[in-house]
Amino acid sequence: MEIQSKLPWVGTTIFSQMSQLANECGAINLSQGFPDFSADPLLLAAVNAHVLAGRNQYAPMIGVAPLRQQIAALTEQCYQRRIDPEREITITSGATEALFVAIQAVVREGDEVIVFDPAYDSYRPAVELAGGSTVHIQLCAPDFRPNWAEVAKCVTAKTKLIIVNSPHNPTGMVFSAQDFEALQRLVVAHDLWCISDEVYEHMVFAGAAKLSANSFAALAEQTFVVSSFGKTFHVTGWKLGYCVAPEALSVEFRKIHQYVTFSSYTPAQFAIADMLQQQAHLVHEISAFYQQKRDLFQGLMAQSRFRLLPCQGTYFQLADYSEISELSDVDFCRWLTIEHGVAAIPLSVFSTTPQSAKIVRFCFAKQTATLQQAAELLCKL
Ligand SMILES: Cc1ncc(COP(=O)(O)O)c(C=O)c1O
Repeated sequence: MEIQSKLPWVGTTIFSQMSQLANECGAINLSQGFPDFSADPLLLAAVNAHVLAGRNQYAPMIGVAPLRQQIAALTEQCYQRRIDPEREITITSGATEALFVAIQAVVREGDEVIVFDPAYDSYRPAVELAGGSTVHIQLCAPDFRPNWAEVAKCVTAKTKLIIVNSPHNPTGMVFSAQDFEALQRLVVAHDLWCISDEVYEHMVFAGAAKLSANSFAALAEQTFVVSSFGKTFHVTGWKLGYCVAPEALSVEFRKIHQYVTFSSYTPAQFAIADMLQQQAHLVHEISAFYQQKRDLFQGLMAQSRFRLLPCQGTYFQLADYSEISELSDVDFCRWLTIEHGVAAIPLSVFSTTPQSAKIVRFCFAKQTATLQQAAELLCKL
């Protein structure tokens, strides 16, 4: 008997492939998005303390109360929106689980979901597993900002959901107030649900506004806001995220979440709650921390033949290599890793349609020495 794949077009993700290749070649890994430095020692001590204190059994399905209370306080502080920690916040195993569950909650057979390319790779499989299909709208260099009039033209009677991501992986684009207002008008006018993937919410650089779907009341009424502590606290391996959504949406979200993971790692939930309560300044310092890393990397690369694209947020830098090579971006990344010892991610893998642009993504969530070594190699090309 042969199994018939539900996702015949899916293979091993490029992130795993490039990290593996980087390991095999001993290359500097600027491909997959994770820091090569440690989290705050206070966070590490806190998680150890909670393990030793015996908080090792199932957390409540919706997440531990202190963490949900801290998220409500942070949301009010950052975006001036009051949310009910009992009814509107659910802790998940990473943003990936929250995205998957939110999609299963609202997408049915035959529904269409609007997604912007380049896009994070988990949206489409989740939509297809729910029986829907994705409609892809290409964002274009250099600013990768949606043309909202074009987006409106893609809404059909079948459109159920729109997925947005700001600050945006892989381009570093950040939505302005006008973008969120246009999204709000669209969502309200066409009775759409929205998922706002905001995992890089605390990495917004000077010149861009720090905004969330939670900053816009009418939009928030129809939106699952998804975020992740992995990015904010430099602990991507903890896979701890959350979903903020109005009560009616959260009720449906929780029905599915309880059968996907039921609950997430208990000690980490308490440890992050401690940090948010006692070290709240850390969250507000992350933008400056990553802006410094972006500026360092951009400065080091100034003498290279890469042309760097604007980066307003996240910890990713796009770079055009058309002065260096004629290779496709996938081949260029393999060549760069194997021959020159630096791993990057090709931009085309984030889009469903073939792309000809010669652009790669570097992750600058790295120690100064790592960025210096990588830039030295890249400047030789
Ligand atoms: C845009 C985007 N959304 C979601 C995620 C997943 O976050 P998590 O690791 O918390 O599941 C990532 C991780 O890279 C991401 O870049």
